[in-house]
Amino acid sequence: MSPASRFRHELPDPGWPTREEARAARLFSEGRLGPLRTRTRCWVPAMVPWRAGEDGCVTPEVLDWYGRFAAGAPGVLVVEATGIRDVPSGPLLRIGHDRFVPGLVDLVERVREESGGRTRLLIQILDFLRIRKRPDPKRYFSEFLVLREDLRAALEARDPGLAGADETRLRAALLAMPDPDRRALLSPRELRDLDFGARETVNDLHLPWIADLPARLPGLFAAAAGRAREAGFNGVELHFAHAYTMAGFLSRTNRRGDGYGGDPEARRRLPLEVFDAVRKEVGMDFCVGCRLCGDEVIPGGDRIEDAIGHCLAFAKRGFDFLSISKGGKFEDAKQPRIGEAAYPYTGPSGHECMPTIRIDERGPFGRNVGLAARIRRALRERGFMTPVVTAGGICGFAQAEAILERGEADFVAAARQSLADPDWFRKMELGRGAEVRRCTYTNYCEGLDRRHKEVTCKLWDRDFRDDPSAPRSRDGKRRLCPPPWTPPA
Ligand SMILES: Cc1cc2nc3c(=O)[nH]c(=O)nc-3n(C[C@H](O)[C@H](O)[C@H](O)COP(=O)(O)O)c2cc1C
Ligand code: SF4
Repeated sequence: MSPASRFRHELPDPGWPTREEARAARLFSEGRLGPLRTRTRCWVPAMVPWRAGEDGCVTPEVLDWYGRFAAGAPGVLVVEATGIRDVPSGPLLRIGHDRFVPGLVDLVERVREESGGRTRLLIQILDFLRIRKRPDPKRYFSEFLVLREDLRAALEARDPGLAGADETRLRAALLAMPDPDRRALLSPRELRDLDFGARETVNDLHLPWIADLPARLPGLFAAAAGRAREAGFNGVELHFAHAYTMAGFLSRTNRRGDGYGGDPEARRRLPLEVFDAVRKEVGMDFCVGCRLCGDEVIPGGDRIEDAIGHCLAFAKRGFDFLSISKGGKFEDAKQPRIGEAAYPYTGPSGHECMPTIRIDERGPFGRNVGLAARIRRALRERGFMTPVVTAGGICGFAQAEAILERGEADFVAAARQSLADPDWFRKMELGRGAEVRRCTYTNYCEGLDRRHKEVTCKLWDRDFRDDPSAPRSRDGKRRLCPPPWTPPA
């Protein structure tokens, strides 16, 4: 939760529509994403629910999760960030091998059934770099720290008795030193590894697999997109946002000297090569867009001007949509506890990505719309009609409709409000907005995500006792799916 806890905002007036008003609303009018027509402009963005198997496969719980969102009949539903590599990644959904396709086919089928074909289904595909848990200092100094020549020299200078000592003695000396003294011997990178856990970045060209990313990623993304097409998805969302590899390439913090970093054109080179490879694989009649940050909200990171430049280049290349997010970076994440990994939604940039009711005097509602609006305006001024998606604290009809009416975005995405009540779009369409279970933006769900626990909404449990047959979380304490809602006949 945001630390600025003296603020606590009221939920805005939702301005729920009558059935007739909904029928005439822009929110419920047809949209277009390149080759894809959507029934409405309501969008459920990617949310990792931690329900995939340890092997990265679709489980019955994954089917229930997406089936439940589909029953609410959003125009577009985006499946969670899904890994493009064939490497163990814990219970994160994966699409890095053909063996994942049958499970994904089931997912597509389930969404088609539950939405009655009214929801277009995209899948967010991502690559991420290695991050380790924050080490116990004892283990760090006795195992992980590389004993560089200059470090050996510094130890010998402190204690001439260590001249020519073997690694075991040097590490023992480090362990015996007062903490401030041994910390003073570490480079900024080593200090970060010690205090936060080692984390690779796109700048680590000394690591062959990082140097090799431009050669590997276009093929990996293309193969993943091909599988998404084979499984029956309507399109892919390339994950170019937040704390992950492709956002690292786009960012001003990318200083690679190999032609893929530094100036904006070089930073966009790999994202565009990824897009080209994906397009070649899936063809023109399959929707391909991306999610990127309109502002990274970290010192030295991308600002809106950078994002506008990226979006213009992407529109020119033929991206079918641009979904604008914000922040969510590792650079300013809170220090994790020993034995835990840093989580990119805990620092100021993370608070901007999933703003809470207490964030600051501006509050969370529609907080990121300005970024999407500036991007959309820049696109339209140059003749690009690429649809723009906005997200962040959108939870009412009047608010969503005004965003569309003012031309600030073409699609309105709601993650947490849809989690609180996946039927909220349907309720609005039926003129039953008063029955919407409204998100309170206190981020109980985000706390579960942080601990890699099955994500649920605290509001679902209110009628838990009335529904003993509801599937429960592993700890038995929470219901795994939102309570059902049947519209009156
Ligand atoms: C539990 C949870 C998981 C999320 N997982 C993803 C994800 O996989 N990919 C992504 O781009 N954004 C992810 N997000 C961010 C949301 O898509 C959205 O941008 C953010 O929550 C702000 O929108 P909201 O105010 O409507 O919730 C996640 C958010 C939540 C709450
Ligand atoms: S737990 Fe529910 S009410 Fe709380 S922020 Fe998440 S979706 Fe909203």
